Amino acid sequence: MLNTTVNAATHDMEEGKVALVTGVGRAIGLGFAVARELATCGHTVILTGQDLSRTQHLADRLAAEGLSVCAVRLDVTDPATIAECVEFVRTSFGYLDVLVNNAAGGFDIDQSLLTADMARAHVAMDVNFFGPWHTCAAFASLLRQSSHGRIVNISSAAGSLTDGLTSPEIGDLMPGYSLSKSALNALTVKLANAFAGTSVLVNAVCPGETATHPETGDEQNARSPEESAKGVVWAATLGSDGPTGSFFRDGVRLPW
Ligand SMILES: NC(=O)c1ccc[n+]([C@@H]2O[C@H](COP(=O)([O-])OP(=O)(O)OC[C@H]3O[C@@H](n4cnc5c(N)ncnc54)[C@H](OP(=O)(O)O)[C@@H]3O)[C@@H](O)[C@H]2O)c1
Repeated sequence: MLNTTVNAATHDMEEGKVALVTGVGRAIGLGFAVARELATCGHTVILTGQDLSRTQHLADRLAAEGLSVCAVRLDVTDPATIAECVEFVRTSFGYLDVLVNNAAGGFDIDQSLLTADMARAHVAMDVNFFGPWHTCAAFASLLRQSSHGRIVNISSAAGSLTDGLTSPEIGDLMPGYSLSKSALNALTVKLANAFAGTSVLVNAVCPGETATHPETGDEQNARSPEESAKGVVWAATLGSDGPTGSFFRDGVRLPW
C-alpha cells in the first residue's frame, strides 16, 4: 500500500490515455507487469521491445485478456527504431500520455570498478542512460500534446549517491550498471527542468528487488513483478498536482 504524504497527490482518470513501455521482452520482466497494470487501469498500452516477435507474443497475451494493447519494435540504442516508433504513435494517436523507460542492460555484478571491462560499462550507459535520454527527446513533442504527460524512468537504488554507491555490500561491484542508474537519476532532474512550465511530470522509480531473474537464484527475498509494478504505475498516473524531478520507491521519496 502506498502510504506517504506524496501519495496524497491525486491521480488522473486513465480512460483514453496512451502509454508506452520500453523493454517488454520477457513474461516475467517488470515491463510486462507494468504494461498489464497500465492497461488494466484503462490505458491503451504500446508494448515495445528489441525483439518484436517476443513483444508481440506478450501483447497477444494481454489482448486475449481483453486489454487494449499493441506491440512495436523499439531498440533504445537504435535511433531508427525510435524514430519509427515515434511515427507510429504520431499517426495512430497524435499524442502520448505516459512513457515508461524500463529497458535496461549491462548488469555487471560480476565485475568491479578498477578492473572493469569498459565495453560492458559502455553497454550499460548506452541502454540505461543514452537510451532513455534519446527516447524522451524523441517523444517530447507527443508528450507535450498530452494534457497530462508523465515520464517514469525505472532506476535503481544501486545508483543512489547516498545508498547503493556507498553501500558496503555492493562496494565497487556492478560499476557500469550502478553508475548508469546514477546518470539516469541526474537525467530525471534535468528532464523535469526541460519540461518545466508544461504538464509533463518526470520522475525516477526504483522498483525494489524484484524476482525477474529467478534462474540466478539470488532473489529469494525479492517480490513479484506485479507488486513492484504498482509503484511504477503510481508515478505514471500522478495527478497534475504531483511531484516532478524526484526519486521514489512505492510512492515513498528516496534520496538521490
Ligand atoms: N529486478 C530488480 O530487482 C530490479 C531492481 C532495480 C531496478 N530494476 C530495473 O527495472 C527494470 C526492469 O528490469 P527487469 O528486472 O524486469 O529485467 P529484464 O527482464 O532483464 O528487463 C530488461 C528488459 O530490457 C530489454 N532491453 C535490453 N536492452 C534493450 C534495448 N537496447 N532496447 C530495448 N530493450 C532492451 C531486455 O530485452 P531482452 O528481453 O531482449 O533481453 C529486457 O526485456 C530495469 O530498468 C532494471 O534496471 C530492476
